[in-house]
Amino acid sequence: MSGVKKLRTDLNRSTNVVYQAHHVSRNKRGQVVGTRGGFRGCTIWLTGLSGAGKTTLSFALEEFLLSQDIPSYSLDGDNIRHGLNQNLGFSSVDREENIRRVAEVAKLFADAGLVCITSFISPFAKDREEARKIHAAAGLPFFEIFVHASLEVCEGRDVKGLYKKARSGEIKGFTGIDSLYESPEASDLVLKTGELTVNECIDQVLELLREQNIVPSGKLKEVNDLFVPENKLSLAVADAAILPTISITKLDLEWVQVLSEGWASPLKGFMREREFLQVLHFGTLLDDVTINLTVPIVLPVSTETKQKMDGCAAIALVYQGVRIAILRKPEFYEHRKEERCARQWGTTCPQHPYIKMVMEGGDWLVGGDLEVLERIRWNDGLDKYRLTPVELKQKFKDMNADAIFAFQLRNPVHNGHALLMQDTKRRLLERGYKTPVLLLHPLGGWTKDDDVPLAWRMKQHSAVLEDGVLDPASTIVAIFPSPMMYAGPTEWMADNDQS
Ligand code: ADX
Repeated sequence: MSGVKKLRTDLNRSTNVVYQAHHVSRNKRGQVVGTRGGFRGCTIWLTGLSGAGKTTLSFALEEFLLSQDIPSYSLDGDNIRHGLNQNLGFSSVDREENIRRVAEVAKLFADAGLVCITSFISPFAKDREEARKIHAAAGLPFFEIFVHASLEVCEGRDVKGLYKKARSGEIKGFTGIDSLYESPEASDLVLKTGELTVNECIDQVLELLREQNIVPSGKLKEVNDLFVPENKLSLAVADAAILPTISITKLDLEWVQVLSEGWASPLKGFMREREFLQVLHFGTLLDDVTINLTVPIVLPVSTETKQKMDGCAAIALVYQGVRIAILRKPEFYEHRKEERCARQWGTTCPQHPYIKMVMEGGDWLVGGDLEVLERIRWNDGLDKYRLTPVELKQKFKDMNADAIFAFQLRNPVHNGHALLMQDTKRRLLERGYKTPVLLLHPLGGWTKDDDVPLAWRMKQHSAVLEDGVLDPASTIVAIFPSPMMYAGPTEWMADNDQS
């Protein structure tokens, strides 16, 4: 009782203080905090019984938002009770004070421009209402999310063994057992964690955040494949048959495959000059959404071809006599080879195998919108391993994957690789993922002559799985169709042995 009194008295002590306004606008903060621009400060208030899944969701959401460059911070009940609120217990008054402090802290985090996620039981409706009011007064969005799992489910999970202790009387006043939980009646979202997976819950929260313009909509997670839709195919084929043509090399066709299957989303085709320069000098595509991309995906052509084709509305791309794609609204621009190599590889050494090809290639590049007439096939017995991003997504779904980790390599798997992959799986399991899936992703495009050929690497990968070095039940082996560029650690794709 005296503790309670003390708190109350302390609260009343804040007299003769005048709120001082900051000089910085939210707009300005939004420009500076994070790399995605725009003020996104808000609080996502998770409420629910102990064991309902608040912390799991909160950490998963925080992880996802940060992976999308959206600043976020998760305030967790147990963690805050280790620090700021370590002097509070679980009496109604202490819980009220717990929530009041958290609401105030969350408001500050949100005001600073972060998506603040709180995971506290917050059992009392009036305390949650107070938290909402604190945010409303500061003009900050506040979303109450009811993380809903029945007492039976939470008690069944009993992750921390506390329900057992509460039932035996070792803990008094435990929420749901001998202390009240007032279920929200009008929360912004209800997530039934007994029925939905973590990812499904996160998707629902993201939908809410998109609606509220907290998270940018846009094509962030979609795969843009560049195949002509079935119903327009005959028209496109007829069109391609009469268009002027450019003959492309095997290497170019590999890039057509990369683009067509959507590996380089949101690119719509071979890079135009603007995209080429962004990638070369900023390592990112900067239009629409900012996306890391450091590899120029370009189509070199000769001066003669450029002179002949400049001004055409569309061009058909031909490989070994077959028209495989249409490049619409082509844009020809100078292939500044030295500048490109210096930026992409940090060297212009002509002995480097890919630089050699760049130097020997055309002096012009042609960008444009690509429409690919059919799936690129190599008929080497390995096409069944060449899965598109869309097909891989489906496989992951079929396997009930809740986390995917990918290992791209151009070599046989060696012991160091195997240890890394095993260790990653172990860590994911430790972090609470139930069915992590490994995508073992050998690079299938051009490699230099003295590298182990793809067919042998595929045999070696099969042997590694057969021997149980990697678990066949939770691994997908698929070929990444990209050529290898040998650009070392600056590359986003086609790099050497990336995990
Ligand atoms: S709240 O009720 O004040 O919002 P808060 O979320 O901070 O609670 O803390 C809840 C966590 O404290 C639970 O996840 C549980 O691990 C632990 N805990 C310890 N004693 C209790 C209790 N009597 N009631 C509820 N949770 C308790």
